[in-house]
Amino acid sequence: MEVVRHAKELQHRADELRAAGRRVALVPTMGALHEGHLELVREARRKADVVWVSIFVNPTQFGPNEDLTSYPRTFEEDCSACTWEGVDLVFAPNPEEFYPEGCQTWVEVSELSQPLCGATRPTHFRGVSTIVPKLFLAAKPHIAVFGEKDFQQLAIIRRLTRDLCFDVEIIGVPTVRESDGVALSSRNKWLDGKRRPQATALLHALDAAELAVRAGVKEVFQLDEIVAKELAMAKDAQVDYAEFRDPETLEPILHELNGPVLLALAVFFPVPGDKGPDRVRLIDNRVLPAGAARIPRNTKSNTRSTNR
Ligand code: PAJ
Repeated sequence: MEVVRHAKELQHRADELRAAGRRVALVPTMGALHEGHLELVREARRKADVVWVSIFVNPTQFGPNEDLTSYPRTFEEDCSACTWEGVDLVFAPNPEEFYPEGCQTWVEVSELSQPLCGATRPTHFRGVSTIVPKLFLAAKPHIAVFGEKDFQQLAIIRRLTRDLCFDVEIIGVPTVRESDGVALSSRNKWLDGKRRPQATALLHALDAAELAVRAGVKEVFQLDEIVAKELAMAKDAQVDYAEFRDPETLEPILHELNGPVLLALAVFFPVPGDKGPDRVRLIDNRVLPAGAARIPRNTKSNTRSTNR
């Protein structure tokens, strides 16, 4: 498996493959690869002839007090995992070359970047929505694969791809979880033995909300209570947000559900010691179904007889 460091070289490879009629899938990552990333690679393999993974810890998506320096860097292991999965090429640009001196071009997806994670991390999505087009322009992929775990990121990438007329098909892959249901993340390793079990509260909150919606609960205030009760089980967690939003526009749903709805969660956990960040922020989400239709009593028998 090859490692390419320069965008120009990658563009040249992409042109050759396109001329030969081969379909390239790109899986953008920041490394520290786990099963979640590898599932994206497998999906890319199912959809394309050639699979490229980019590994780049993108400095512009980290805020001043975030974990850029402590972000795990495991390049050798990542390359071994990619080789094992049959990845054709890893693109690992140098930060100095990929963001040349005096670089002043940014891509901003204005509205989708504001709420949820954007509220706590005001410059994060500007970094993401700038690096992803750069990767697209370097790799010229036919397909790009992203995780649904980062739902807001995926919504932003879909929107920028459409808005900037990129000829790239965006594929979303469902969240890969640990055996207890916690979403796989390179940040989970910072949780100590006391906090790690508490991280299951996010999944329990998603499950409880889904159960309620399936049972016909439509009022957001009731669902808020159900979610808050589950998250409160994690004694050390500080809730950043727990919100019901439109899955495409990310606009808040404040009163009654009348279609599928995104439940997006983010909680902080403190990290003991001084070897890593002070705290980690875990996110999870689920698109809840439209809900069971509540059938008014007097029409129930009519419906039955019609079905007979
Ligand atoms: P990173 O956090 O390395 O994630 C790379 C990709 O893996 C993203 O699409 C993310 O949604 C997906 N992913 C992470 N954990 C997952 C899980 N448990 N199940 C399924 N998919 C998972 O996201 C980024 O990097 C960066 O913001 C990037 C898009 C590369 C831009 O720098």
